[in-house]
Amino acid sequence: MSVHIEANKNDIANTVLMPGDPLRAKWISETFFEDAFCYNQIRGMLGYTGFYKGKRISVQGSGMGIPSSMIYFQELIKAYDVKTIIRVGTAGSYQKNVKIKDIVLAMAASTTSNINSSRFTNADFAPTADFELFVQALQYAKENNIPIKAGNVLSLDEFYEENPNSYKKWAEYGVLCAEMETAGLYTIAAKYNIKALSILTISDSLVTGEHASTEERESTLKEMIEIALHIS
Ligand code: HPA
Repeated sequence: MSVHIEANKNDIANTVLMPGDPLRAKWISETFFEDAFCYNQIRGMLGYTGFYKGKRISVQGSGMGIPSSMIYFQELIKAYDVKTIIRVGTAGSYQKNVKIKDIVLAMAASTTSNINSSRFTNADFAPTADFELFVQALQYAKENNIPIKAGNVLSLDEFYEENPNSYKKWAEYGVLCAEMETAGLYTIAAKYNIKALSILTISDSLVTGEHASTEERESTLKEMIEIALHIS
């Protein structure tokens, strides 16, 4: 076991889907997996392993934000030899043409976090998606008529920002939406040479102030998870 995961070494599959919410991990396991078991309950950060169409796969809650999620990314990679992590999360839109329920593939992740300024002094590291996973996700979406948007996302350190207009600067530079984990995932994936992709559904809009209804969240969540499961 690792510090925050109580699973035995072989309890976790090579590929792990990672929502922020541990109860969403439970829901993904119950909705999509066969023969699943729960391998982690420490801090309520639930993790399950099961099978999807004969493939062994795991799903693990990451918690919210780079500090929490990086603990799980790192322990999965270092202690459990995980080779592919696919984040399945929600994001707030920064652009008029990125609408509630849209699915966004994060090609790259900008951030307000200091994780990379402390790693690379006086320089910027650009955390990017795994190209193969990205292309596979795009292809699956195309074949199944699921509209996709792709581009730069912003991984924020604060959900409740001091200045409500601070999103406008990022929007000006073409950033599609904000969430709180992807820059951490892509950075740690680069460091340990594993594959990573973030697939996001838009749950709210900074541009219009709209929020997705519970039903809207559920239906797009399913499409997003199907994409993740098919490329895993
Ligand atoms: N900001 C940051 N993270 C988020 C948002 C947001 O608006 N929506 C969903 N996750």
